[in-house]
Amino acid sequence: MKNREHRQIILKKRPLGRIHPNHFQMIDGPRPVPRDGEALVQVMWLGIDPTQRTWLNEKRTYMPPVAIGEVMRGSGVGIVVDSRSDRYKVGDWVAGMTGWQNFAIAGEGGLFGMNPIPDGIDPKAMLSILGVNGLTAYFGMTEIGKPKSGETVFVSGAAGSVGSIAGQIAKIRGCKVIGSAGGPEKCSWVTQTANFDACIDYKSGHLEDELRRLAPDGIHVVFDNVGGTTLEAALANLANHARIVISGSISSGYSQDNYGTGPRNYMELGFKRARMEGFIFLDYLSEFPRAFFDIKKWIDTNQITYAEDIKLGLESAPDALQGLFDGKNFGKQLIKLV
Ligand SMILES: NC(=O)c1ccc[n+]([C@@H]2O[C@H](COP(=O)([O-])OP(=O)(O)OC[C@H]3O[C@@H](n4cnc5c(N)ncnc54)[C@H](OP(=O)(O)O)[C@@H]3O)[C@@H](O)[C@H]2O)c1
Repeated sequence: MKNREHRQIILKKRPLGRIHPNHFQMIDGPRPVPRDGEALVQVMWLGIDPTQRTWLNEKRTYMPPVAIGEVMRGSGVGIVVDSRSDRYKVGDWVAGMTGWQNFAIAGEGGLFGMNPIPDGIDPKAMLSILGVNGLTAYFGMTEIGKPKSGETVFVSGAAGSVGSIAGQIAKIRGCKVIGSAGGPEKCSWVTQTANFDACIDYKSGHLEDELRRLAPDGIHVVFDNVGGTTLEAALANLANHARIVISGSISSGYSQDNYGTGPRNYMELGFKRARMEGFIFLDYLSEFPRAFFDIKKWIDTNQITYAEDIKLGLESAPDALQGLFDGKNFGKQLIKLV
């Protein structure tokens, strides 16, 4: 049994719309053996991210697609269990693009390699608040949104991993922060735990009117994770010289050839002399240490909180990814493998 304990999820066929487990295949085999300069990592946690849906499409976006037959790409953290490298020693926790498998080989470090996790850090936080989600919120809000004290900020996807952090950063900057999320339970977490000033349940169908009521003088910064009619409702309520941060458009479903259509009321940008700008958090690689330092400080001083949603077992990964598009997660979607 022991030599067949390595399980991997490979991409079997590309989904055209929704993801189904039969787009993937679970294979098993012997544990990989590290060569000189490499280490073997037992993957303990996976992070599930909406962008993984874009990697299943045939066309390249900001990254090449996952090939058919390849292990599904994804972030993870794990423990070094065997090492033939000076970089890693047995027992170290590392974070990186482990993929959907329970053992991974660590070679080089760097952006897409595996990097040691500093002592004193909850390893799984490297997949959310101290990883992709915190960095996205931090750079999108501080470098593009640039909220000033007293301004009004709107964050869509406010109960989600990126959105909840983005809104709390704007609160730290002294702004009035309005969120939108799906359902009363998520909205009450957004206001009562994540400290937003207000949260609109977009499923009520009154987002645009509610934004007008809550931001009578207009919105200065929009941090948009959702796109579609949510973005249109925000554009209909801009203040002059507003900044619209395009983080994502999850309402599009990220399926092949559908990353969302342009807002029908884009001329609001002209009327309000506003600027709309997209970004990918990887653009700020050289500034990650500064963001890491600030976010860690805010966690330690209880200025930022975050939620985690934990599913069990490698086999739950495909459903968990689809679940992001169905609003099933509450906070960062993680998979516990061991
Ligand atoms: N630019 C970058 O570098 C970068 C990096 C990472 C992530 N992102 C983007 O950030 C956004 C959030 O990612 P995340 O990892 O933090 O995921 P998340 O927000 O924790 O989870 C996704 C959430 O999206 C919401 N959603 C799904 N379909 C929706 C729809 N049709 N309308 C409105 N809301 C919908 C759901 O919340 P509700 O229940 O509230 O509907 C769901 O819980 C995504 O757009 C992602 O692509 C961008």
